[in-house]
Amino acid sequence: MSQIKILTIIGARPQIIKAAALSRAIQNNFSDKIKELIVHTGQHYDDNMSQVFIDELEIPRPNYHLNVGSGSHGKQTSMMIEGIEEIILKEKPACIILYGDTNTTLAGAVSGSKIQVPIIHIEAGLRSFNKLMPEEINRIVCDHVSTLLFSPSLTGYSNLLKEGFVENNNGPYSINNPKIFHCGDVMYDNSLYFSAIADKSTTVLKDYKLEKNNFILATIHRNNNTDEPERLNKLFKSLLAIAHQNKINVIIPLHPRTSKLLAKNLEPEVYMQVKTSGYIKIIAPVSYLEMITLEKNSKLVMTDSGGVQKEAFFFKKPCIILRAETEWLELLSCGAAILTDTDESKIAEAYNYFTGTQTISYPNYFGDGKAAQFICEQILQNIH
Ligand code: UD1
Ligand code: UDP
Repeated sequence: MSQIKILTIIGARPQIIKAAALSRAIQNNFSDKIKELIVHTGQHYDDNMSQVFIDELEIPRPNYHLNVGSGSHGKQTSMMIEGIEEIILKEKPACIILYGDTNTTLAGAVSGSKIQVPIIHIEAGLRSFNKLMPEEINRIVCDHVSTLLFSPSLTGYSNLLKEGFVENNNGPYSINNPKIFHCGDVMYDNSLYFSAIADKSTTVLKDYKLEKNNFILATIHRNNNTDEPERLNKLFKSLLAIAHQNKINVIIPLHPRTSKLLAKNLEPEVYMQVKTSGYIKIIAPVSYLEMITLEKNSKLVMTDSGGVQKEAFFFKKPCIILRAETEWLELLSCGAAILTDTDESKIAEAYNYFTGTQTISYPNYFGDGKAAQFICEQILQNIH
């Protein structure tokens, strides 16, 4: 039987992780029908932002590496567009697979659509309704040039309907007649699959002397939080206050973007307090298995990350979202997460609320762990 050739384009940490679910499904169930080639743009390049996930999540070694590295949005994206175009022309895949909303996603969307290769967008339909966020532009562009759009949430699916996508349309599907799906979340597939493996294979709790259910896990990397000193100071002041008042450890695997700006953007006194606090533990980015171990065993999560807020939910941990808005409205509506932005009193109130006695519900919004399987089936049915 002939195989269809698909080209997966990854580059930033979260999409390397998401891609693992599809690669696993292909290897386990569709290896005779789907041949996957992988392009790594090099948007993320430190070992602990990239290679560690390829090794740990058993993603096949990328067939192509563009090595674009960091740069301004325009420079970074244009280098990717040029490189991806060349590979598409050479490999002539039946479609390209794009994840999420990074500059790598945008570059894939522009390259693929201009040379008329069908685009499959995984994590379609998510919106913050804030176009000052670079990711919002990337997602809108990618969705509107895609042929198959897989939304992991009902909110995402209904956003697509509001933007003019239609449901129940018949194939053949194309950029001009796209097909939208509501399916599970490939990140949930990964959380279920790797959860038990993480328990057995990581020592991160012991390494950092963390007591189960008695520490806060925090991540900060969103560009407005890192680049605007006022916001960064408010966030770290909040973390310091909560840690010291409640005598609780806060572990922060820090994104390199934030690490590089900490000394520059924090007030000297705040910086010194963070560095000398016995409760605040800033560490390098951790591996995926270490991260989910931290999430599963934390008391509570504080984050501005899209993926981390959702994983907190998967592992039934309350989450304080350090942003003004979220794409994952389901987490707010069921009460498992609270949006505080960088407001110090809202952050403290949310902490007190979640560490009170109330029971929080975590309904199953994100599928049955088989989203990647569903996506593969739909690709086989609809892409020729
Ligand atoms: C990108 C995505 C964001 C996603 C995040 C996941 C865009 C516009 N943003 O943001 O949506 O949430 O990835 O982590 O695509 N750096 C390193 N080493 C690395 C990678 C980055 O030091 O391996 C530093 C560089 O100083 C770089 C900065 O981090 O300039 C920002 O990296 P970049 O990929 O441009 O954006 P992120 O903030 O990582
Ligand atoms: N993650 C990780 N190590 C870390 C921080 C995050 O493995 O030190 C994982 C996390 O478990 C999730 C993904 O990275 O699967 C989220 O990526 P990130 O926060 O960088 O980006 P976002 O989801 O906000 O786009």
